Amino acid sequence: MKFDVKDIKLAHKGALRIEWARNNMPVLGLVAARFKKEQPLKGLTVAACLHVTTETAVLMEVLKAGGANVYLCASNPLSTQDDVAASLATHLKIAVFSIKGENTKTYYSHLKAVLASKPHITMDDGADLVSTIHQASPEVYRNIIGGTEETTTGVIRLRALASEGKLRYPIIAVNDAQTKHLFDNRYGTGQSTMDGIIRATNKLVAGSAVVVCGYGWCGRGVAMRAKGMAARIIVIEVDPLRALEATMDGYEVMTIKEAAKIGDIFVTVTGDINVIRKEHFATMKDGAIVSNSGHFNVELDIPGLEKLSRLKRRIRDYVEEYTLRNGRKIYLLGEGRLINLAAAEGHPAQVMDMSFANQALSAEYIKHHYRNLENNVYKVPEDIDQNIAKLKLSSMGIKIDVLTPEQKKYLSSWEMGT
Ligand code: ADE
Repeated sequence: MKFDVKDIKLAHKGALRIEWARNNMPVLGLVAARFKKEQPLKGLTVAACLHVTTETAVLMEVLKAGGANVYLCASNPLSTQDDVAASLATHLKIAVFSIKGENTKTYYSHLKAVLASKPHITMDDGADLVSTIHQASPEVYRNIIGGTEETTTGVIRLRALASEGKLRYPIIAVNDAQTKHLFDNRYGTGQSTMDGIIRATNKLVAGSAVVVCGYGWCGRGVAMRAKGMAARIIVIEVDPLRALEATMDGYEVMTIKEAAKIGDIFVTVTGDINVIRKEHFATMKDGAIVSNSGHFNVELDIPGLEKLSRLKRRIRDYVEEYTLRNGRKIYLLGEGRLINLAAAEGHPAQVMDMSFANQALSAEYIKHHYRNLENNVYKVPEDIDQNIAKLKLSSMGIKIDVLTPEQKKYLSSWEMGT
């Protein structure tokens, strides 16, 4: 079996950390037990392009337990946990191609190594795998019956591909499941982003002005957690409804032009390009910290920052100090790549439990239903989403009420009023 990891000797450490994650992923554990018995993925090859973390390792185990042949590469050059990659290759015998800090050329060569498996199902996070497939020869995608997509950015790219009529196979948008984005994007990104910023800088959040660019589910999560740490929160948003919501959630809302002069810590989570630009860096306070937790490293105009600077040095792991010509210093975290995975460990296992249960069950759904699916982007079926919520509650020992027959009847009637 071929693989490419940084250091195979890290496997033991990886195995212990994977065990820790597995202990916190009870829903996926239930899926694994059923998959082991029923073998729903038997004979299928799955090509996965995901952040290579302990939680992803647990998902890979589940797919393998279900009979799949699994190949894995990283969905971001900085998000691999090298000990996990080593353990996957050693203990799980998974063909894994990922090294933390790999350059763009190696990143794409790893995607291609995974695609050489001629997969039946793709499992993507950000749509780089699907995009590579769509630029490859038909030989690569001949066997594919469907795929899944983990993140908002990937779903946006795939919808664009589908709307041009160019998507070559059906995709299930795992991100859009309620048990995914309401928890992973909000609580996962919220906690892991603050974790990444703090691990990289060890700065005190209390009393500092945290500027959150984007008030989608990720932005809401980051703002909520930073507020919990007693920061002053400033939200940047282009959507009037979201801006209004942020205002009524108790945050200050303003333009990035205004916020640039005030912020101590900046976080972008918009999914769009050049959100903080050269003209904004030029007016920032001395010592401002800039980071991104969106999928791609395009939200900060790093070339613009470079142009403004006369000196650049690495002052700590994941912290680049830029000395501007105006004498001020700006600190860029994690090369502008998603800071929660670059400097921390990504979302905690408890939320990835639900995201990855959606992944595993969507792969099974594709296996059973691909003949009836068109080349389009689909939602995770409602019953899968509901079932994951039920299992998660039960794993947490939480019981909820059920409607009485009288209540059910009332909800489906119109006669009774005041
Ligand atoms: N995306 C965000 N956090 C993650 C994690 N812990 N594992 C895999 N993908 C992630």
